[in-house]
Amino acid sequence: MLWFRKENTMNTVGTRTIETERLVLRRYKVEDAEDMYNNWAGDPEVTKFLSWPTHTSAEFTKSLLTKWVSFYEDGKTYNWGITLKGDDHVIGNIAVVERDERTCSYEIGYCLGKKYWGRGIMPEALRAVIRYLFEGESDLNRIYATHDLRNTKSGRVMQKAGMTFDGVLRGSKKNNLGIHDTAYYSVLRTDLATEEDYEKLLLELKPGFFERDYVRNLPDGETPYEQILRLQSFNPKIYDKKLPANVTFGFYDGDIEELRGLVAQVVPHWPQFFTKESRIYCGYVDGKVASFCLLEDGGEHVINGVKCRVGEPGCVGTLPEYRDRGIGLTMIRNVTEIFRQELYDFSYIHYTYEPQWYAKIGYKTVLRWGNRGVVKE
Ligand SMILES: CC(C)(COP(=O)(O)OP(=O)(O)OC[C@H]1O[C@@H](n2cnc3c(N)ncnc32)[C@H](O)[C@@H]1OP(=O)(O)O)[C@@H](O)C(=O)NCCC(=O)NCCS
Repeated sequence: MLWFRKENTMNTVGTRTIETERLVLRRYKVEDAEDMYNNWAGDPEVTKFLSWPTHTSAEFTKSLLTKWVSFYEDGKTYNWGITLKGDDHVIGNIAVVERDERTCSYEIGYCLGKKYWGRGIMPEALRAVIRYLFEGESDLNRIYATHDLRNTKSGRVMQKAGMTFDGVLRGSKKNNLGIHDTAYYSVLRTDLATEEDYEKLLLELKPGFFERDYVRNLPDGETPYEQILRLQSFNPKIYDKKLPANVTFGFYDGDIEELRGLVAQVVPHWPQFFTKESRIYCGYVDGKVASFCLLEDGGEHVINGVKCRVGEPGCVGTLPEYRDRGIGLTMIRNVTEIFRQELYDFSYIHYTYEPQWYAKIGYKTVLRWGNRGVVKE
């Protein structure tokens, strides 16, 4: 079990004590051998789906712990014993078991004594370790965890800790049951961006936004939404409404004044944003404009320490007579896919009152604001 001790040039903080609501995660001591052996390392049921064989004696556990304890000296090892607050006995393990420096990514592995299953202990530990690692290591980009596809309980832990299911690699790992199909879950640094990160992004995209008159004059209690969607793994099939053959989509290259007249029917003050230089994408019915949208380059921004290109669909509308047929959403889906193909990292929806509508294709709300600035949730 030397797996968590790979050479590493990343800016590591090493294993320090982490406290959560109910737990203390701490460094091992050689004296933990009995507890570790009894609680998990010597239990074939706990180790069934793990990559190392069940320990056959507490002596073996002790010799392993002696090595583990010496590894802490390198300052690069992440390996915690899990204890319940107020009781120093170790009940489980959580560690960084694999590192890839090229992608700045860490794999976490964990196990917990059977007696302690079903109490949400591991999700609490995993969440805390994820936070600790991202806060401690500015270079870290991705944390992932894997499980034997048949070990669904472990998948629940990853879900509860806020990780996203990446997929299954068949026959990709080996454990005490043999070679197995493996489920992968991950969390990216940008997944953990905070309200503060998004407020900063909004003010970079729209400088002085909260000083603008139309924001200051918004009625009390009116709180529009800002939304974002990560583009690299966006799948346009997420919204695949079958539309009749007379509905088509494409960039607008017609008369701009004519289009402005149509835009005014949807929102009277929007035509000013539609100019000859604008990139405009439309939905058409029998060749006539039914819906419209601007494609704007929001530029490059740093979101929670990660440099990202942001594309902005803007001034989105469907003419009243063409609504509720899936034309508007199919248009936004197409525009989102265009941004993805143009290698933008995020698509950003500014100032919307239709968060549920955008959510149908995966946009997530990151901020709400009103006439006095960001509304704290
Ligand atoms: C919002 C707007 C663009 C919707 O256009 P649309 O073409 O009627 O929308 P679609 O028909 O494509 O909607 C597709 C789906 O979303 C659903 N939907 C429509 N409005 C919705 C809403 N407000 N919230 C949640 N779902 C909604 C529809 O039921 C439909 O579902 P389905 O395909 O699963 O059956 C249109 O109402 C509009 O132009 N409003 C005024 C301008 C505006 O508010 N623009 C948004 C600015 S950010």
